[in-house]
Amino acid sequence: MLIKISSSFSFMPCKASLTAQENETGMSSHKDVVTSYCTKVHRNRKMERLQHNYLFPEICARELEHIKKYPNAKVITLGVGDTTQPLPDVVASSMSNYANKLATPTGYRGYGPEQGSKELRRAIAEKFYKDMNIKGTEIFISDGAQGDICRLQLLFGSDMSIAVQDPTFPAYVDSSVIIGQTGDVEKGSGSYQKIEYMKCGPQNSFFPDLSRTTPTDIIFFCSPNNPTGHAANWEQLEQLVQFAQQNGSIIVYDSAYAVYITDGRSPRSIYQVPGAKKVAIEVSSFSKIAGFTGVRLGWTVVPEELLYSNGLAVINDFNRIVCTCFNGASRIAQAGGLASLSSEGFKAVLSLVDYYKENARILLETFKSLGLSAYGGVNAPYIWVHFPGSDSWDVFNEILEKTHIVTVPGSGFGPGGKEFIRVTAFGHRENIVEASKRLRSLLS
Ligand SMILES: Cc1ncc(COP(=O)(O)O)c(C=O)c1O
Repeated sequence: MLIKISSSFSFMPCKASLTAQENETGMSSHKDVVTSYCTKVHRNRKMERLQHNYLFPEICARELEHIKKYPNAKVITLGVGDTTQPLPDVVASSMSNYANKLATPTGYRGYGPEQGSKELRRAIAEKFYKDMNIKGTEIFISDGAQGDICRLQLLFGSDMSIAVQDPTFPAYVDSSVIIGQTGDVEKGSGSYQKIEYMKCGPQNSFFPDLSRTTPTDIIFFCSPNNPTGHAANWEQLEQLVQFAQQNGSIIVYDSAYAVYITDGRSPRSIYQVPGAKKVAIEVSSFSKIAGFTGVRLGWTVVPEELLYSNGLAVINDFNRIVCTCFNGASRIAQAGGLASLSSEGFKAVLSLVDYYKENARILLETFKSLGLSAYGGVNAPYIWVHFPGSDSWDVFNEILEKTHIVTVPGSGFGPGGKEFIRVTAFGHRENIVEASKRLRSLLS
């Protein structure tokens, strides 16, 4: 549907404007077209620095184009990391009961505490940070990790220097560009000036060589990493914490996939590493633990011991940001989150995690049996597949064109991903098995 601009407006002359074409998911893809009414407002120059559309909507748009081109094809989506299995009953019914209560005079509630419900904060502390001495009051409930990544950027501001893994989940880099921490993009490499890209590939066991890493104020670090699926081991995380201590940096540790770690060789939280509470914030999410990608719920831990250079506590400023820029997560979503941490609920969500892990095993085996170097897939729902000498967009296009399978080109995660594709295990089992067959016939 083309969104039309009413002809009753008076038109300001301008060079280019946009039409928005809405696709079936309701998302708009905008294209430059001929002129129409423009305001006098200049575009934020930092937005102009962004190179591409955000990666995942771009992948969805390409999938829709493909479906249009091949309306009879059975397209399998192993692209955007979105969960597919239904919520456990105990979780869904807790939310519907809560919603029903809101329709009664005695059960109605308005705004909740900006930091989230006490019960949920305590339950998270108990379930994920037992023996780490993290208090419920150090946990802030959010509407998902992605929003909190941006709120943390707002907290630290544009004067910070940052480091990211390369490849990395794109929200850290894009939000850094938007907030103004970066310089322009370097043509050729595709990397932004003023970001320290920490190469994490097969050549270094997916962990950066910290002796060659320029110290920065903030280090974004994700484990298990999206997209490589690598979970940093104890020794690696100890090195990271030491590196932050030596340089006075703050680690923003993203543990969105921590429950997928089952091999016992990697910590599930940065706070399992001694000393981390003085140097790290942890961002996490119910999205991939409990299938809450649509429900929206997450949390961020800011330990009281984490201090700025002037000795003031970071937690007080984060609290201020949350009160000013967020105002609290949905009470209904929080009821669901609490139910997912009950003993019955947690058993049910872990069986979903097991289901996706089995999918990951099938996909990993498929790629390995084809002689390809494939990584991740053991402690994470992502498989990172190497196509030496190829460009990841070419591999993405070829797989899509010849098998109708959507993946994600690795270069969308940074320069270090240019010869890789990422495949997600968040599918229905029959689709995973079918995808495996199609990939075998394409690549064998
Ligand atoms: C590493 C990582 N962090 C954060 C997020 C965003 O999570 P949420 O759905 O809680 O916003 C994702 C989503 O895919 C992710 O992969």
